[in-house]
Amino acid sequence: FSVPYPKNEPVLSYAPGTKERAALKKALADARAKVLDIPMYIGSEEVRTGNTKTITPPHDHKHVLAHFHEGDSSHVEQAINAALGAKAAWADLSWEHRAAIFLKAADLLAGPYRYAINAATMLGQSKSPYQAEIDSACELIDFLRFNVYFMTQIYQEQPESSPGVWNRSEYRPLEGFTFAVTPFNFTAIAGNLPTCMALMGNTVVWKPANTQVYAANVIMQVLKAAGLPDGVINLIYVDGPTAGDVVFNHPDFAGIHFTGSTKVFQNMWRTIGTNIHRYKTYPRIVGETGGKDFVMVHKSANPKEVAVALSRGAFEYQGQKCSAASRAYIPSNLWDEVKKYLVEDLKDFKMGGTEDFGNFINAVIDEKAFDSIAGYIEKAKQNPMNTIVAGGKVDKSKGYFVEPTVIETKDPSSVTMCEEIFGPVLTIYVYHAENFEDTLELVDRTSPYALTGSIISGDRYAIELATKKLSNAAGNFYINDKPTGAVVGQQPFGGARASGTNDKAGAKMNLMRWVSARSIKETF
Ligand code: ALA
Repeated sequence: FSVPYPKNEPVLSYAPGTKERAALKKALADARAKVLDIPMYIGSEEVRTGNTKTITPPHDHKHVLAHFHEGDSSHVEQAINAALGAKAAWADLSWEHRAAIFLKAADLLAGPYRYAINAATMLGQSKSPYQAEIDSACELIDFLRFNVYFMTQIYQEQPESSPGVWNRSEYRPLEGFTFAVTPFNFTAIAGNLPTCMALMGNTVVWKPANTQVYAANVIMQVLKAAGLPDGVINLIYVDGPTAGDVVFNHPDFAGIHFTGSTKVFQNMWRTIGTNIHRYKTYPRIVGETGGKDFVMVHKSANPKEVAVALSRGAFEYQGQKCSAASRAYIPSNLWDEVKKYLVEDLKDFKMGGTEDFGNFINAVIDEKAFDSIAGYIEKAKQNPMNTIVAGGKVDKSKGYFVEPTVIETKDPSSVTMCEEIFGPVLTIYVYHAENFEDTLELVDRTSPYALTGSIISGDRYAIELATKKLSNAAGNFYINDKPTGAVVGQQPFGGARASGTNDKAGAKMNLMRWVSARSIKETF
C-alpha cells in the first residue's frame, strides 16, 4: 500500500490581470468588510466565553477584523477530555480513512479555500500576497500531502522474518493526548503541527499564538469541511502558562509539538521534567525554537548575487521567518560593491499594507515586537562600533512598520550580531578577505543557535571547507542561495543546538515521533 510521491503545489503569481489576483482582492475585501466572532473549538462545541480579544491587521491596527473568545484552565481541561474521548475511535480508524481527511483538506486549500486562507494570513499576520501564497497555500498543502506519503512509508517499514517466525512492526499512536503549540509567523507551521500528529492516529489540543488566531480559524473550517471528526483536534485560546499548568500536570500527556521561542520551550521542558513521574508514558518533546541565521561570503563570490541573497533572505516577511538571515560575514574585497547593490535593492522595496500588492515590506506582528525591534535598532545606533548602512526608521502610528535596517559592525560579538531580534534587521561584519577559515570559526561560535545558514562562493574548495567547518552550525545549510524558503519534500526543515530538536518538519523522521512501535514475533 502506498500513495504516489506528491508534487509540490505550484505557486500562483498573482500578477496584474490574472484571475487569481482578482479572486484574492475580493477575498481581502470580503474579509475586511466583516467583523468575525471566533470561538474555540472543543469536541463538537463552539465555545464562546464572552472574554474576548480583538484582532487587527498589524499594518492597520485601528481596523477590527475579529474578536476571539479566550478560555481559562477549565477550557484546557475540556479540550483534554474531548481529545481523550475521541481517541479510541480515531486511533482505530484505518490509515486510509485518516489520510483521506487530510488529503481532502489539502485539495480544499488548493481550491475553494485558497484565497480565504491567504487573505486571512495577509490581514492577520501582515504577509504580502507572495509570502502568504508560499506559506498558507503551498507549504500547508505540501505538508498535508507529503505527510500522508511519509506515513505510508513508516507503516511499510517491516523487519526481517525467517522460516517458522513472522516478525511484524506495528506503529501505534501515542497513548494519551498530544499538545500542539504553534507560532504566528507561518500559517503552514500552525496547520502542520496538530495535523501531522492527528494523521498518525493521535488526538490533539492545539494552542496557536494569539497573533495567528485569525488564520488558525480558517484552518479549522477547512478541517471540518474535510470531515475531521469532533474532538480529534481541539483549538483553544488560552495563555501559555495557564495551558501548560493543566497539560503538563496531566497523567495522559503524551507529547508536545512546539514552534516558538527557545526560552518558552526550555521552560516547558523543565516543567515536563519536574512532572515526569506523573505520566503514564515518557512524553515526546519536539520543538523548533530560535535562530540567528547567517550568510557567510567568500572573496570569490559575485557581489550582486550576495546583495540579492541578503536583501531577500533578511527582509522577506520583515525578517520574521525563523530562517531569516540576520548576520552576514562579507570579505573586505567585496564589501563596497555588495553595499552599493544592497542599498540600491532596498530603495526599491516599498513598505505598507498588504492590500497594496506592490509593497514588499509590510508590518511586524504587533506592538510588543515593534518595541523590541525598535529598541535593538536604537541601541545599535548608540554603539560607536556600528554604522547604519540602510533603514533605521520606525513608525507605529498606523501599523507596526520598521524599515529594513542594515547595520555594519566592527565588533563581531555585538548585540545585534549575536541575539535573535526576529525583525527586519541585518548586521554585517566585514572580515579581512584572507581570513576566511578563522571567520568560519567565528560564525560557528558567535551564536548558540543552529537553524539555517548560507555559504556564498565561486570557489569549490571554500564551499567544501565551509560545509565541513559549519557542519553543526545550521540544520538547513544553503550553498549559493539565501537561507530561507525550504520546500517540503525537498529540504526537510529544522535546526539543532538552541534552535530545536531537529526533527525536520514535513519529514518521515518527524512523523516517527508521533507513533509508539510494537514489535510482534509470531512463531509457527
Ligand atoms: N520553512 C521556512 C523557511 O525555510 C521557515 O523559510
